Amino acid sequence: DIKGVIFDLDGVISNTSRLHNVAWQQVAKQVGAQWTESLSNNLKGVSRQDSLELILQAVPADHQYNEREKQELANDKNKHYLRLVDNMTKNDILPGIVPFLESLKHNNYQLALASASKNSSRVLEKIGLSHYFSEIVDPQKLSKGKPDPEIFTTAAKLLSLKPDQCIGIEDAAMGIQAINAANIFSIGIGEQDILKDADIVFENTNLLTLNNIREYFEQREL
Ligand code: BG6
Ligand code: MG
Repeated sequence: DIKGVIFDLDGVISNTSRLHNVAWQQVAKQVGAQWTESLSNNLKGVSRQDSLELILQAVPADHQYNEREKQELANDKNKHYLRLVDNMTKNDILPGIVPFLESLKHNNYQLALASASKNSSRVLEKIGLSHYFSEIVDPQKLSKGKPDPEIFTTAAKLLSLKPDQCIGIEDAAMGIQAINAANIFSIGIGEQDILKDADIVFENTNLLTLNNIREYFEQREL
């Protein structure tokens, strides 16, 4: 029986995926990396440091950035991102998420947050959703990021649940890999093509309802 639901944040609960994009695009412009849709997709779910590496790999010139320069670029991105977060309100919660969280609470599911972002608590507070989550994984305490399963395995442990008692929800291909590798049932939010390894894909968060999930479980007789 499913007892816990583990959520990604950016692009699942809040529209911050877009805000991360805006801030990274600025860095890409600054270093002369070409911003493409595939680069933008590859950055989803990836830590700040690893995201910067992916952007620098897309720079045609062979200037080598040293650690100090990289740190500066990462700091610039975060400052820009936090300015955008400052203006967030409840309107930045993705559609259908509040009713979904409510229905999970009413049905006694335990909720955990498994975001790669060091800013996840701040974002949850800004949009007023902190109280729904009994556990928030601290990504700074992990040795490996998504697609490694560690963040989802840790979330299940914090909830005192086994992987097969949990569902994980992600908008990033890297995140789906991480959920699957943790042996947790995976739900993807977004395009089927990108999230093809997920156990179920919903095109958008409006479709994320307990009924839709239950329907799937009944069909599969899980
Ligand atoms: C992930 C986002 O949740 O967190 C990425 O999908 C982001 O886009 C990553 O880079 C790290 O976030 P932060 O806030 O620690 O820079
Ligand atoms: Mg995400």
